[in-house]
Amino acid sequence: MPPADPPRPAAVLITGASSGLGEALALEYARPGAVLFLSGRDAGRLDGVAAACRAKGAEVHPRVLDVADRRSMEAWVEECDDLRPLDLVIANAGISAGTSGGGEGAEQTRAIFAVNVDGVFNTVLPAVARMRPRRAGQIAIMASLAGYRGMPGAPAYCASKAAVKVWGEGLRGWLAPQGIKVSVICPGFVTTRMTAANRFRMPFLMDAPRAAGIMARGLAANRGRIAYPWPMAFLSWLGAALPDALMERLSRLLPAK
Ligand SMILES: NC(=O)c1ccc[n+]([C@@H]2O[C@H](COP(=O)([O-])OP(=O)(O)OC[C@H]3O[C@@H](n4cnc5c(N)ncnc54)[C@H](OP(=O)(O)O)[C@@H]3O)[C@@H](O)[C@H]2O)c1
Repeated sequence: MPPADPPRPAAVLITGASSGLGEALALEYARPGAVLFLSGRDAGRLDGVAAACRAKGAEVHPRVLDVADRRSMEAWVEECDDLRPLDLVIANAGISAGTSGGGEGAEQTRAIFAVNVDGVFNTVLPAVARMRPRRAGQIAIMASLAGYRGMPGAPAYCASKAAVKVWGEGLRGWLAPQGIKVSVICPGFVTTRMTAANRFRMPFLMDAPRAAGIMARGLAANRGRIAYPWPMAFLSWLGAALPDALMERLSRLLPAK
């Protein structure tokens, strides 16, 4: 007999659910009995994802919201948790230089940190404040294999992902005795609107539904770091472990994000 599927979280909050990995995760968790709190900035795309999740039987509460807006995010997380105590919170929303179409200039560098780092704090901290008293809940932080080493093609993006990766790793050990699980997710290249901007061949490129399955299984197993696909994870690990002077020369050959 095949092994039974692990139990699925009932109440799930996902930022950046209007496209890409967030959309695929929403669809992955959508089923009868599930309550999904989904946010993004594009109302039309967010409504489309909400409708697709409802068609799979889930109760869905979409909200147009900027993750960089600390007060609104705090109010939204609390509102969702009041409606249904959150089992799983996925801080997924993110941007890269490619998202702006203009590279990592001064403004985009700051915007990347506002969304990819402050946006993660704005999602995770109010959720942890609610989970702590009930000593239950799970947090997933969307980092990236790009966070394993700074690359000349995307310094701010790599740095933002390194920041949330390391923060999440530390949080995991800190919050475990308080009954809260924390996982850091480090995808390689996945086909989404973000990678559609890349003008180079992306090794081990994966589609978003497959990536969502890997992430959901990793979260169900409470893995601290969910890094995939493994060949790309291995190369990223190796790149960070190589002598710096060698990696600096190699990284000059890589294309800009
Ligand atoms: N695709 C990859 O290969 C890959 C690899 C590693 C990590 N990641 C990470 O995965 C996450 C999702 O990216 P993706 O590839 O799925 O790209 P995507 O299709 O562009 O999705 C990004 C999502 O983030 C939302 N978002 C962006 N800025 C926001 C803001 N200020 N406030 C609220 N929502 C905001 C977008 O919403 P709107 O469009 O509605 O604004 C969208 O739903 C990001 O953190 C990214 O860094 C992606």
